Amino acid sequence: MKLKINHQIHAVDADGTTPLLWVIREQIGMTGTKFGCGVGMCGACTVHLDGEAIRSCITPVSACEGRHVTTIEGLSKNGDHPLQKAWVQLDVPQCGYCQSGQLMSAAALLKRTPKPTDEDIVSAMSGNICRCGTYGRIRCAIKVAAG
Ligand code: FES
Repeated sequence: MKLKINHQIHAVDADGTTPLLWVIREQIGMTGTKFGCGVGMCGACTVHLDGEAIRSCITPVSACEGRHVTTIEGLSKNGDHPLQKAWVQLDVPQCGYCQSGQLMSAAALLKRTPKPTDEDIVSAMSGNICRCGTYGRIRCAIKVAAG
């Protein structure tokens, strides 16, 4: 099958039930998207499917044909998405493992709600777990990016 990822078409040889996460990481070789729980509970594997945040560990690759997948590698050209700039400015990550998923959830939020309230942010980010507890800085960075 053919998959459109970050505006590029990739020929993929995978059973349709294979989770998108493994195709992205192991066939395409984009390792910015992380494996955490594998059951849709932690958010580490978050990518966008047609602009919506989805859990790639529980999304069969067959569901992505004819649609556009965006990974952290495609969020911006040079790491200059307003969220990425705010993340650097506020020194958000600690260990960093969950952060690509955090950024992808935050980017989907700002796309649909450019000026989110605190409640919007808490609600949109509630499915992304951070074992280092960077939640406070993440919320601040989303506010900074929203302007
Ligand atoms: Fe997909 Fe945890 S690895 S939600």
